[in-house]
Amino acid sequence: MKLVKLIANLGYGSRKQVQWMFREGRITDADGEVLYADDQVAHEAIRVDGEPLDPPVGLTIALYKPRGVTCSIKDKGRLVYDLLPSRFRDRDPVLSTVGRLDRDTSGLLLMTDDGGLLHRIISPKSKLPKVYEVELAEDLRGDEVALFASGTLMLESEKTPLMPAELDVQGPRNARLVLHEGRYHQVRRMFAATGNHVQALHRSGVGGLGLEGLEEGQWRQLAAADLETLFAP
Ligand code: URA
Repeated sequence: MKLVKLIANLGYGSRKQVQWMFREGRITDADGEVLYADDQVAHEAIRVDGEPLDPPVGLTIALYKPRGVTCSIKDKGRLVYDLLPSRFRDRDPVLSTVGRLDRDTSGLLLMTDDGGLLHRIISPKSKLPKVYEVELAEDLRGDEVALFASGTLMLESEKTPLMPAELDVQGPRNARLVLHEGRYHQVRRMFAATGNHVQALHRSGVGGLGLEGLEEGQWRQLAAADLETLFAP
């Protein structure tokens, strides 16, 4: 791919703006030698204003989403993209969230520009466990473990019952719930179906990946080994 297109697709600017960046000598190799738009250079050797070029297409990241941040590219209030380098929201192909977490849910959110990978992660066929730590407004009533495991629970306005889910009770109002699918507001709606209300919700894991090494609001790029861990919980 031509350098102008490559750099523009990474969100650094329009092709016109990137052409100007070349003319201004802002694009160099690792030794500071000015590059020209028709040069052939390895991605890792390119610098923009002295900084390494952002990761190429195939970018997948893990973000520790705080509460109060929305999984959307355009919305009022704080967005997950505000926690990333500003160029990331202008990448082509787009860096999408892998499913969504509600504004008030914290925890592990994956984002990728790889459509095939995204579908593999969210597909119920891959049955990747998603682990949620739940704090409830009312005491558990006692039948939730069996109900959620039954594979027969039908949520309002859904046409098929939920897949079996594992609930591990950790206190009268605390539990860990493991889902193998991701329906709209699923955790909140499951507990609403039992007459309860989710007070606080946190996702601690997806597949074999957790939040290790990340503080709230931080992100990291996933390497091939992380993706293996993701699919081999
Ligand atoms: N289920 C919910 O209800 N909310 C989330 O954010 C994730 C799963």
